[in-house]
Amino acid sequence: METVVSGARPTGRLHLGHLHGALTNWLRLQKDYRCYFFVADWHALTTDYASPQGIQQSTREMVMDWLSVGLDPKRCVLFCQSKVKEHAELHLLLSMITPVPWLERNPTYKEQIREIEGKDLSTYGFLGYPVLQAADIIMYKARKVPVGVDQAPHVELTREIVRRFNQFYGAIFPEPEVLLTETQRLPGLDGRKMSKSYNNAVFLSDPAKEVDQKLSRMMTDPARVRRQDPGEPEKCPAFQLHKIYCTPDEVDYVSKGCRTAGIGCLECKKVMIKHVVAELAPIQEKRAGFEKRPADVDDILAAGNRVAQEQAARTMGEVRKAVGL
Ligand code: TRP
Ligand code: SF4
Repeated sequence: METVVSGARPTGRLHLGHLHGALTNWLRLQKDYRCYFFVADWHALTTDYASPQGIQQSTREMVMDWLSVGLDPKRCVLFCQSKVKEHAELHLLLSMITPVPWLERNPTYKEQIREIEGKDLSTYGFLGYPVLQAADIIMYKARKVPVGVDQAPHVELTREIVRRFNQFYGAIFPEPEVLLTETQRLPGLDGRKMSKSYNNAVFLSDPAKEVDQKLSRMMTDPARVRRQDPGEPEKCPAFQLHKIYCTPDEVDYVSKGCRTAGIGCLECKKVMIKHVVAELAPIQEKRAGFEKRPADVDDILAAGNRVAQEQAARTMGEVRKAVGL
């Protein structure tokens, strides 16, 4: 079985954007691959080193959501990066062979330096972020790395680092490939990309009533000011959710209703909301179980940490020998 590795920074409770992006993909992959999915808490520190207080709580919340949507610890290794110290050692060794210009020309790096305000990102750790990511990936000799487009340059860089490593020290690591996660760019309540930081998200753990309230207020076609104005579904953020959640008949019904002003926006949204609520119900039921027994989550992570650590120790044995240490 081929190995898949992917990580996520601990962002706390997950939302519908995560579910329809990374998570659905991971759920599929756990059936056919040896999967390692981990909480990238050291990566969180590269930007949030000045305020690390929330990281532990966010880790627990995120893992609870992972388990609730159906990531199965019997099928995949769920672990926490900072608990497997080998990642730091491999990161150090890779940093020796990684030319600084490779890091400086990384598009994600340049963009984040430009866009993230209020944080001093001119640190060694932030520049080296993709080297740490390379260590995460090759530690388990991954062949496939499921990530969104924004992360593709990091995997490309990982391949370059692997080639350089193998040239110097012998063929230890396979070159990993990107498995591009098609992101249906789920719109949030205000029409921008759904994101916790925009405060426009529907969380997987939001109670049904809150889901209903939030989505009932979701932005619609701005041209449809009054009930009797016809609208254009393709210009309506809420309709993007109809396309994901509703049956073809329902999509048809609301599209016609919108264009002829035959239905109001609230009525239209209710058709979609019932599907969202139904999708979340079993997830929330599972989550309620974990909330009652938080020690189970800790145990699952601890077991995953052990499995990951054993594999990482094997890899590092080979690496130290190859490097001559
Ligand atoms: N950089 C990724 C992100 O911000 C998280 C990550 C860290 C990752 N290490 C990884 C993803 C290894 C895939 C593989 O989303
Ligand atoms: Fe959007 Fe539906 Fe309102 Fe049309 S009727 S603008 S599709 S919510």
